[in-house]
Formats: sequence, C-alpha cells, structure tokens
Amino acid sequence: MWAFYRLVTVVLGQGLLQEDIELKSFSDPKAEAELARLFRLLRLADINYYQKDAPSMSDADYDKLKKRYILLEQLFPHLKRSDSPVTTVGAPALEKFAKVNHSQRMLSLSNAFESSDVVDFGDSIRRYLGLKSETPLSFTAEPKIDGLSLSCRYENGILVQAATRGDGVVGENVTENAKTISDIPQYLFNSPNILEVRGEVYITHKDFQLLNRDQSSRGEKTFANPRNAAAGSLRQLDPRITAARPLRFFAYAWGEHSEALGKTQTEALEKLAILGFKTDPLTQTFETIEALLYHYSYIADRRAELPYDIDGVVYKVDNLSYQSRLGMRSTTPRWAIAHKFAAEVGWTKLEGIDIQVGRTGALSPVARLLPLTLGGVVVSNATLHNEDYIKGIDSTGSLIRDGKDIRVNDWVQVYRAGDVIPKIADVDLTKRSADSEPYVFPDVCPECGTSAGREEGDAVRRCTGGITCPAQGVERLKHFVSRKAFDIEGIGAKQIEMFFVDEHLPIREPADIFTLAERDRANLSSFESRDGYGEKSVAKIYAAIEERRTISFAKLLFSLGIRHLGEVGAKLISSHYGNWQDFIYAIDNASDRQSADWEELLAIDGVGKVMAESLVSAFSSAPERAAIDRLVFHLNIEDSEMQKPNNSPINGKTIVFTGTLERMSRVEAKARAEVLGAKVLGSVSAKTDLVIRGSGAGSKAKKAAALGIPMINEDKWLVMIGGL
Ligand code: IVH
Repeated sequence: MWAFYRLVTVVLGQGLLQEDIELKSFSDPKAEAELARLFRLLRLADINYYQKDAPSMSDADYDKLKKRYILLEQLFPHLKRSDSPVTTVGAPALEKFAKVNHSQRMLSLSNAFESSDVVDFGDSIRRYLGLKSETPLSFTAEPKIDGLSLSCRYENGILVQAATRGDGVVGENVTENAKTISDIPQYLFNSPNILEVRGEVYITHKDFQLLNRDQSSRGEKTFANPRNAAAGSLRQLDPRITAARPLRFFAYAWGEHSEALGKTQTEALEKLAILGFKTDPLTQTFETIEALLYHYSYIADRRAELPYDIDGVVYKVDNLSYQSRLGMRSTTPRWAIAHKFAAEVGWTKLEGIDIQVGRTGALSPVARLLPLTLGGVVVSNATLHNEDYIKGIDSTGSLIRDGKDIRVNDWVQVYRAGDVIPKIADVDLTKRSADSEPYVFPDVCPECGTSAGREEGDAVRRCTGGITCPAQGVERLKHFVSRKAFDIEGIGAKQIEMFFVDEHLPIREPADIFTLAERDRANLSSFESRDGYGEKSVAKIYAAIEERRTISFAKLLFSLGIRHLGEVGAKLISSHYGNWQDFIYAIDNASDRQSADWEELLAIDGVGKVMAESLVSAFSSAPERAAIDRLVFHLNIEDSEMQKPNNSPINGKTIVFTGTLERMSRVEAKARAEVLGAKVLGSVSAKTDLVIRGSGAGSKAKKAAALGIPMINEDKWLVMIGGL
C-alpha cells in the first residue's frame, strides 16, 4: 500500500507542471465552474468515505481531484470558498498517533539570558572555526515564536508527512492535521525532490481569545495560553477539530533536503518564502554581535505589540557551510542560540527551606514561598540549587546577588522565565530582622540520616546511602515508572510511595514490580484489599506490567536513572552497542580505564567523560549491578537499531591528529571526524589506523612512522572529509 502511494505521489509530482499550464489558461468563469464540479465530487467522496464507510473512489483518484482543486485555488485565490475542502480535511480518528522517525534529528536550542552569553556564543564560534577577529561573520536574528515545532516532509512537491518534534528523534505523525493549516502548502512548485520544512505552529493573541470564548460558550475547557492552545489543537486525533482551530505556521529551518536551499540562512529563508511558506517578517541579518544585541532590545521593546507570543530572539550563523562545520552537540546546534527575554519578577517572603533528596542522592534545597502571582501563574516554590547558591556563591566561586545570602523569613525577589522553575534573584536586606541567622545546610541526609558529603568540584551535597536511602529508592522507582521510562499504566508516583513502605507487598526496587502479581497470589494481604482498588483495576495494572516485560534497550537504560544519563544519552549508547549483551560485555571491560572498551565508550559522539564515568561506575557498583541483574532477569530486551553504516573512508577507524592544523581548530577536526564515524585518540599506538599530520608535528609522527601507520597532511584530510 505504501509503495503504491509513493508511486502515485511520484506520478502526481511529475504531472504538476503540465496541469499548471492547462489550468492557468482558464478564464474566471471556467475556473469557477471547475472548482464547483471538483467541490461536489470531493464532498460526495468525503461523505461516502467518512460517514457511510463506503468509499466511492480509490485514494489515488481522490488525491488527483484534490490536487487539481488545490492548484486551481492557488491560481485563482479570489475564487477560494470559505468551505474549501483544502482547509476542511476529514480523516478517520486515529487510536493513537503513529510514530515518525525523523530522518534528521529535530534539535532544540541552547539559551542565552545575558548579553555576555551572546558575546561568549560569538567568541566560541570564532574559536571553533578558527576565524580571526577581522573575518566577517554574520548572523540572522529571528523572533523565537512560542508555539510548537513541526516538520513537514515534501516528496516531489507533495506534502507526504508532518510530524511533531517528540523527543527530537521520534515524533508523532500529525500529517492529516497539518494539512488543515492554511499556512502549510500541500503542494510545492519547483522545490527539491525531498524537502523537510521545519517551523513553529502557533496561534495569534486575537485568535486565542476568540477560541477561548468559543470554547467556554460551548462548555469546553479553555486554554491557559496560546502555546497550549496551539499544541492541544495540533495534537487532535480527529483532524476535523484541528481544522476548526486558527493555527498558523512560520518556517525557519529544514531537515532532509535533496538540494541546498541557498548558501546562507537568509537565502534559505527567502527560498522557503518563494516556495509559499510564511517566514517571520521581523527576521534580519547582522554582521556583529553588538548589532544583534541592539536588535534584541528593539524586538523586546515591541514584544507586547506583536500579534503572537515570542519568548526571545534566535541567533543563527548565517553562512550554511559554517553551520555544517559547527555541527551539533547531543541535542543543540553549535551554530544557534536562543536569547531569552527577561523573566517576570516579584517580591515575597521566604517561609522556609525544604531539602528534597533526588534519585541520585542530591540534596536539593527548595524555597517555600508565600504564594505570589507571576505572569498569571501562582508561584509557591523556587529552586535554591545548592548550598553555595544559598550563601551567595556561584559554581565558579564568584559572588551572586552581590554576595547576599538567603535566610528563612527574608523578603526575596522571585523570577520566572517561560517554563523554567522559578528562581530567587535578590534579597531585600532592609527587611531582614536583626535576629535572623544564616541558613545551615544539613550535612546528613534528612531522609535516611546517612552523612551527606560533597565531592571535590561538586557544588551538590549528596546522601551517601545509595540505594539503601529510602528517598533515593523511591525517587528512582518513580523515575523508573515515569512516562518516558517504563510508563506502566496504573503505577505512578502515588502507587510507588504506597508500595515502597508496604509490609506485605513491598516494591523496593524495579525487579519487585515484575514479581508483584506472583507475590500477590501467594499473599494473604492482597493488592485488592487496598483502598480504591478492586478486582478489575488490579487485573488491569497486572496486565500493564506484563505488557512492559518487553522493553527497548534504550528505554531500559534510561529507566535505570543513572546520573548524567538522560534520554538522549541512553539512545546514543543503545544504538552504538545494538544489544544488551554486547553492551554489558563492553561496559564491564570499560571499568579498566586503559581498555579499548573504555576508549570506545568515550568515542561515541555525544558521550562525554562525565556520562561515561557515571555509567561505568553504576554498572560496577555491586549492589546497583545486582539490582539491575535482578530486573533484567524478568525482561525481554529489544535490540536497538545500530547507527546507520556510514560510507565515509574513516568510518570505524581510529585516528590521531598531531601538530597544528592551519584551516580548522582541533575541536572542529575531532568533531568532524567523529561525525564521520571515526574514533579520535590522543596518542599513537599499533591500533591507530591513520595519523593526520599538521605543521610542527613531532614525537607522535615519529612513532607513527616507526609503526608504519599511514599519515596524511591537512590538504588530504580536507579532501577526505569533503572540504570545509
Ligand atoms: S531553530 C536547529 N528558529 O524554539 C534549530 N527554533 O527552544 C532548531 N523556535 O524547538 C530550532 N522560533 O520550537 C528555531 N526562529 C526559530 C524559532 C525556533 C521558535 C522554537 C522551536 C525550538 C525551540 C527551541
């Protein structure tokens, strides 16, 4: 069916130009009559398909008619009807959105809050690219629209798929919904054969108010803000609901593309506009960081007058070949940054400081505030980060809040930026009472009483109780069952807290979840005897647990709650090793820091030393490992798709750089080699496959020559990686 559909779309794609010429020659009355004829046919087909469940034509014929209708509408926009079938798509409601693997990851952006962060961004790019201060370096400045991102895939000019960002790797298929957004063309003319256009789906302030008014008049739920309204409207299982919502779309990026859109971001945005996409009219290109900052203030001053919400300005390196050289970190590109607007602020009283113990044992102080409203949201907690932060010292040892410490009963200035957890910006010393005392941070875990120490260089105090600390145990289990982890329906934070302290049917570690049903059957005090649970609900939970005995390698790894190992890290690692057995074999060997397995772990793009250390130490700690092994015993672990084979000549090779490269920095050289699948090591050994010799190379080059290892110069290296 899929192959057939592809064939139809390809044929339609080639036919477009011919049909375009035919329809262009139509007079207005002829076009109107043809639109009316097509309208009737499409309406009849819709009724037969959706309402009578008795399709009267094939999908291909339907697509052909629809395409002709859309072409006509584009050529004669003044004849567009308000009930155009183009904006009133009706498709069957889906049980659940299908998943889409993004052919190129959908990235997020790192943030800048201060001008100095933007200056640092500019400096780091020059350093990475090895650009002198006099070499021109332009940036685009684009308003950061506060909506949700969407990737629209066109094949031969036809919109074939639209997907939400999801976790950046896998998104949700919302194609039918996207087709109802009039800013998203369903057909492109003179476009590359493959083109994924990415941008933001949003709702204007005015439409948002109308929508909420309409929702409440129909007794339906209203939305908290335009962003939520846009997200809720796009992610509807029934596209007819989406069609009735005032969604708009600004294009600002692209994914897979068979032809370049231009040489610069500016040119590419212009090309997207020519193809029929809306791009934000406030986008501009600047040559200096100072000009970006000036433009930022200009936009910030006009923010309230804009018809839609923006929460900052995005700066992107304009030159696309620089963008590709800069590449990306694990989830964000090096070539862009979001300069966020200043947060909402307010003053209130700090009523107390609670210490929460996280799943990795971190003691996190939380400010309990006299509730205040910031930007329409009631705030009663704020993060205090760590001990030093309360004292007025940041992670580099410099003073924050001019060194003012934070004490219980102080008047504090609270700020909130977007979805970020509120923070404390300042303390009013004039309101501090004379008998107030500095806050004393506990040096024992408030949950288990074990000592809580600080490792050298770590700002965080941690409980040393490990998995014996109940708070850590509970938090790890909560993480284990959370939505992005095992996601067991019916078992959430509440149930974990209940079972953790249960005498008869305890859940103290992940493996216990999978023995729950069995223990229940053998137990006198069963699950069912608990408040609110009956035979049916318990059976449902047990069925949900059974369903999760099969789990992907990446999810399992993420679920273990290992410090520094997030979802992205878990995916990178699982797709590198492919299956659990190979991973365990490698990770056991990697506990020897001289081993090739340790080097291999470090060489995975996106896996840094901190993540690798944490992973290896979790798997080599005896009690943790035993708990993992007990869990794995109950599971059926699905292999991960290995990273796509890469046909570069250095894929899988171990390479060493020596001497000074003239045309790229060492950081860039290493990153470029890794993207192409090579492992970059610092020293030459018999296992080295290739040495790249820059000017002034010394002992490493000598050693390579002695070992007979192939060596190339910088020019050959550039050819090998396909140029700058
Ligand atoms: S570029 C690789 N440009 O901000 C670049 N993002 O915080 C990926 N956003 O996920 C994004 N306006 O949803 C880009 N002009 C703009 C944007 C923009 C809004 C959103 C987008 C992204 C998020 C990152």
